[in-house]
Amino acid sequence: MKRICYFVNWAQYRKGNGKHTYTEIDPELCSHVIIAFVAMTEDSHQLKATEWNDEDTETTVGVYSHVTDLKIKHPALKVMLAIGGWNFGTEKMSAMLATKSTRTVFVNDVVRFLRTRNFDGFDLDFEYPARRGSPPEDKGRFALLCKELREKFEEEAEQTSKPRLLLSAAVGCGKSTMDAAYDVPELAKYLDWIGLMSYDMEYSSKGVTKHHSALFPREDEPAGDKKLCIEWVVNYWMTKGAPAEKLVVGMAFYGKSFTLRSAAKHSVGDPKSGPGLQGPITITAGFMAYFEVCAGLKDGWTRSWIDTQKVPYAYNNTQWIGYDDAESMKEKAIWAASKGLGGWMVWDLAMDDFGAHYCGLGKYPLLHALNDNTPR
Ligand SMILES: *[C@@H]1O[C@H](CO)[C@@H](O)[C@H](O)[C@H]1NC(C)=O
Repeated sequence: MKRICYFVNWAQYRKGNGKHTYTEIDPELCSHVIIAFVAMTEDSHQLKATEWNDEDTETTVGVYSHVTDLKIKHPALKVMLAIGGWNFGTEKMSAMLATKSTRTVFVNDVVRFLRTRNFDGFDLDFEYPARRGSPPEDKGRFALLCKELREKFEEEAEQTSKPRLLLSAAVGCGKSTMDAAYDVPELAKYLDWIGLMSYDMEYSSKGVTKHHSALFPREDEPAGDKKLCIEWVVNYWMTKGAPAEKLVVGMAFYGKSFTLRSAAKHSVGDPKSGPGLQGPITITAGFMAYFEVCAGLKDGWTRSWIDTQKVPYAYNNTQWIGYDDAESMKEKAIWAASKGLGGWMVWDLAMDDFGAHYCGLGKYPLLHALNDNTPR
């Protein structure tokens, strides 16, 4: 099974023990490392690095080279580059997708960019085709892009006798996004895997607390809310024509939090009034890295387990967070293997307790829990 690890190039700016750089990557715990994100030039549909130290300069070695150099000691490791992300938006994607000739400029540039930097593949994280301002035609054009990239990768491999570049996509998991954005049989044909972003599913129709990455639905949820869990999403992709072995489950190394209406009602499914308070290091309302949750648990937050959904939550006074720990990661890894799925991907390395500073469980406790329960 694939064990895919996203490495983000912005966690280098976090303070104190939250600072995460390429030196923290453990290549034994990942089959693929994907660097997020590369961007695009304004009008010329070409790749462009996003951080000042991504690329080599005449006097310095960049992050891309540091990560691809891990292959020297770990020859089985694959290192890939991801384009897109939430903040990238859709405008430049739509402009590139618009015609065969703009897509061809992009496809040729992707091959040049990856090969000159020793990458093994490319991951499409556009959020999302035919959503967020992207026109409905982008659904078909995105599928065409996948086809044209795959064909170019095959042709290039033949010409150069190098192993073919890998091609994957990370996809949204809300039903309306899935329906609008993805031609599933076409994507399954051309992508090496489809990475399901099976997290951020915490919005409930009732204004109550909900776990953002539950494995299973809750019996007492409204029917629509039952679709916001990993099992439902995986089954939906399969009914739409994706073979199990092409599907990769997204594993969240973070929690999504709420402020409760009342400190006395702190279960899953209880009324919320808004997002939770920000964590001290990630500084984002409604969100905390796993290591920040560990710090809270040490300081007196109460942990509880949602047995029907196989995930934990924690609360303190009016603060509530649905998150993942080693126990839920184990449940999810075993379930993914039992379904015959292609593997899992983690978002992201920098939010595990990578340096063993917070949880008292050694380095990368979540990533270890996944590895320990995944057949090779
Ligand atoms: C728990 O809540 C109380 C009351 O709001 C607060 O004073 C305390 O700092 C919180 N504890 C943690 C660990 O966040």
